Amino acid sequence: MADRDKYSVLLPTYNERENLPIIIWLLVKYFNESGYDYEIIVIDDGSPDKTLDVAKQLQKIYGSEKIVLRPREKKLGLGTAYIHGIKHATGNFIIIMDADLSHHPKFIPEFIQKQKEGNFDVVSGTRYIGDGGVAGWDFRRKLVSRGANYITQILLRPGASDLTGSFRLYKKEVLQKLVNSCISKGYVFQMEMIIRARQFGYTIGEVPISFVDRVYGESKLGGSEIIQFLKGLLYLFATT
Ligand code: GDD
Ligand code: MN
Repeated sequence: MADRDKYSVLLPTYNERENLPIIIWLLVKYFNESGYDYEIIVIDDGSPDKTLDVAKQLQKIYGSEKIVLRPREKKLGLGTAYIHGIKHATGNFIIIMDADLSHHPKFIPEFIQKQKEGNFDVVSGTRYIGDGGVAGWDFRRKLVSRGANYITQILLRPGASDLTGSFRLYKKEVLQKLVNSCISKGYVFQMEMIIRARQFGYTIGEVPISFVDRVYGESKLGGSEIIQFLKGLLYLFATT
């Protein structure tokens, strides 16, 4: 059966020159194997390690139909990187994931299948049900993630098990609407998106994923992001 759906993958990058060739190779592999139409939109924020040069090389290899480059001058944050990417997306579905190999492209065909099963508005990867899990995180990082999820579950009862993960598939118009209604900018953005989704009555499907800590490069999550998360959480608690 002819399938007219197209999937736009948004890949925000900041200093990911070692990871980008592998993640793109894997994305191409899994899309080719499953036969779905796709494009990969790389949003690089002027990475000092010249990730963009690597992306240009990859575009030569795979073609400008498949690898779309939408760079920005400087590091403007993850939330606005998504907004920037959506503007250029031509698919009717959008997949958001990290470029550092923490999110494995092998799960994408499962996301797509799940979406089709229930015609879900959002499919969210979850580390907190079934076979899902985390590998390579130290105790502090696990505590932060578990803690953030736990407090949010209690305060907001969102109807999804992994609130701070970002590996998700959205109907494009749904993501557009969510992004327009979200006020937070940093990492708390992921959590706000899923809270708003429930608020608007969107349906959410879940797929267990394993999250593997990056091998190359560093996480950009610091103490100030944690403070920002708590502020955002309290704001949502007070307003939704
Ligand atoms: N363009 C752009 N601009 N990309 C960025 C920026 C930015 O300012 N900051 C980070 N990125 C990219 C990274 O290059 C990577 O591809 C992705 O965004 C995630 O950044 P990481 O720094 O690797 O995040 P993390 O591993 O600490 O956090 C992950 O897990 C959290 C929950 O456990 C992310 O998925 C978070 O979104 C998530 O909340
Ligand atoms: Mn990471």
